[in-house]
Amino acid sequence: MTVLRPDEVFGLEQFAVELAAGAGDLVARASHGELQVSAKSTQTDLVTAVDRASEQWLVEQIEKRRPGDAVLAEEGGGRHGTSGVRWVLDPIDGTVNFVLGLPQYAVSVAAEIDGVVVAGAVCNPVTKEMFHARLGGGSYLGDARLRGPRDVALERAVIGTGFGYGAARRGRQAAVVAELLARIGDIRRQGSAALDLCAVACGRLDGYYEAGLSRWDFAAGALVASEAGCLTSGLRARDAGERMTAACGPTLAPALFALLTELGADLVTDEP
Ligand code: IPD
Ligand code: CA
Repeated sequence: MTVLRPDEVFGLEQFAVELAAGAGDLVARASHGELQVSAKSTQTDLVTAVDRASEQWLVEQIEKRRPGDAVLAEEGGGRHGTSGVRWVLDPIDGTVNFVLGLPQYAVSVAAEIDGVVVAGAVCNPVTKEMFHARLGGGSYLGDARLRGPRDVALERAVIGTGFGYGAARRGRQAAVVAELLARIGDIRRQGSAALDLCAVACGRLDGYYEAGLSRWDFAAGALVASEAGCLTSGLRARDAGERMTAACGPTLAPALFALLTELGADLVTDEP
């Protein structure tokens, strides 16, 4: 078991902010150049030279400053470590928005100790907004403490979500949304899971759910949401994870999580 002193966890949060800001600057500068777009798992799952450059820069900084730490990163720049700390990196979350020039994408950086996220930062390179949090230390947008969304009934709640890249899974996710729409206030699909979770933390969304995320999509954002007082969880007594990540205020949670369970929102990943 790895035990870190509170000042060491504070140091991880500071470093996460530094990393997200530095990679955010790199992404902002590179957004005006040649993006070199290519496809990954499907024709719509995109990666650019800027995703790769952002990840390479992040990994180099971690190697320089904390050589014993492990890394898990979206574009494959992972490595093993010896310190018990692992960095979970999304060099651009919302790559499709980035390619389109839609200003809703982020660099997401989280630090885990023995698999538990203890610090995280999410930076929107366009707006320069920096969301950050550490376990037990609250979550912030810049210097402003975040307190989660308004108290609102399910029938009025505006809920964010997202969809996978495979056609069959998207069909099942669409069927869930079709049912959900009649029972909630409205739906938003903004295109970055990391920013969606931060949006719940700062009250721009009443809630969010998505099935089939990867760890780098939600690691930092889920901590920002829970440290803002949100309930951040999976369904059927599971933790937030790849199968389901859902977040909303504690008053809305019983109704929203029950509805998502009833609609099988977490079951859409059981098939490809
Ligand atoms: C995607 C975004 C999107 C979510 C997808 C993710 P990427 O990440 O977070 O909002 O709906 O599930 O894969 O591919 O842009 O890094
Ligand atoms: Ca992502």
